[in-house]
Amino acid sequence: MTSEHQADQPSHDSQTWHHLGSATELASARKKRVCVGGRDIAVFHHKGQFYALDWRCYHAGGPLHQGDIEELPDGTACLICPWHGYRIGLASGEGFYRPANLTGSAPTSGWCSKGVRQRMHHVEVRPDESVHVALSDLKSPRESDRYASRKPKKATFK
Ligand code: FES
Repeated sequence: MTSEHQADQPSHDSQTWHHLGSATELASARKKRVCVGGRDIAVFHHKGQFYALDWRCYHAGGPLHQGDIEELPDGTACLICPWHGYRIGLASGEGFYRPANLTGSAPTSGWCSKGVRQRMHHVEVRPDESVHVALSDLKSPRESDRYASRKPKKATFK
């Protein structure tokens, strides 16, 4: 987990927490789209942990709750966007890419981070096994913000 991701986490007392349902139900569903405070969120359950992030992919707005999860060779769990296959870190919101090898020799095998592109939200399981989410209160923009509003955006041409 990057320090930038930790900054995404809201302070526990200052946020509005929204009840999503029982941990058992959400874990068996594995992924779910929810609207929290007017923002569409995708909630995932993977290997015993819950994750919440903006529902629309930072690249072009793909519906991430329809994406599969895979692990990079280092074990980092990633969502695969169903539209163009971008990898997004499930715990961090980092966009990952595999650099092209322009020398023509063996392809590169490693994955690199583009930085945090997807806004992450806080999710917690309470002692009564209920799951709650709070929207990120991070002030710095994330690329996924442009697709997060339900209000239609006007096209701007320059
Ligand atoms: Fe997600 Fe393009 S919209 S990879």
